[in-house]
Amino acid sequence: MRASKTTREEAWLPVALSDTLALLADHAHCEKKAASSAMMLMTRHPDEPEIVAAMVELAREELAHFGEVHAALTQRGGVLGPDRGDPYVQGLLRHARNGAVAVQLIDRLLCAALVEARSFERLRLLGEHHPEPELAELFARFARSEARHGATFVSLARNVAARHGIERAEVDDRLEVLTRLEGELVESLPLRCAIH
Ligand SMILES: [Fe+2]
Repeated sequence: MRASKTTREEAWLPVALSDTLALLADHAHCEKKAASSAMMLMTRHPDEPEIVAAMVELAREELAHFGEVHAALTQRGGVLGPDRGDPYVQGLLRHARNGAVAVQLIDRLLCAALVEARSFERLRLLGEHHPEPELAELFARFARSEARHGATFVSLARNVAARHGIERAEVDDRLEVLTRLEGELVESLPLRCAIH
């Protein structure tokens, strides 16, 4: 699993490095969508004070990241342009279960954790390999945020489970299933000059 993930990321890297403006525009859209999903989660779950508080903080941080990536893009002569969508996130969210509100929320949080983990891997590689030092620093710094967000989403999912009488093992099993599906999804998608 780990080996195949590494190989996939190695194949992705040169594609991602082929067009910095396209990569930055996609990355900016990712940060903006991360902020809006945080807003969506706090809107849909007003009875979960821990979720609301965590999402307020996350939405602020992701929106600040959006501003920073957008500035890096425009300073280099790029324009954000329309969001062409993210088949990876869309595909992953199709695996999130419907059902009881707590189950839906747990799946949504676990999917978010996996997106953060994948973004971490890719931003880390960009931080190590992007030829522009200023952008390499930005990618490396944002990679560290993604690692932190990934861990936050998993612990939020476990806390939601505990509040709703769902066993922690059930959350861990679900995370394992979604991790496998996420890996298969990434393998099945074409490589793009984009974060995912
Ligand atoms: Fe994030």
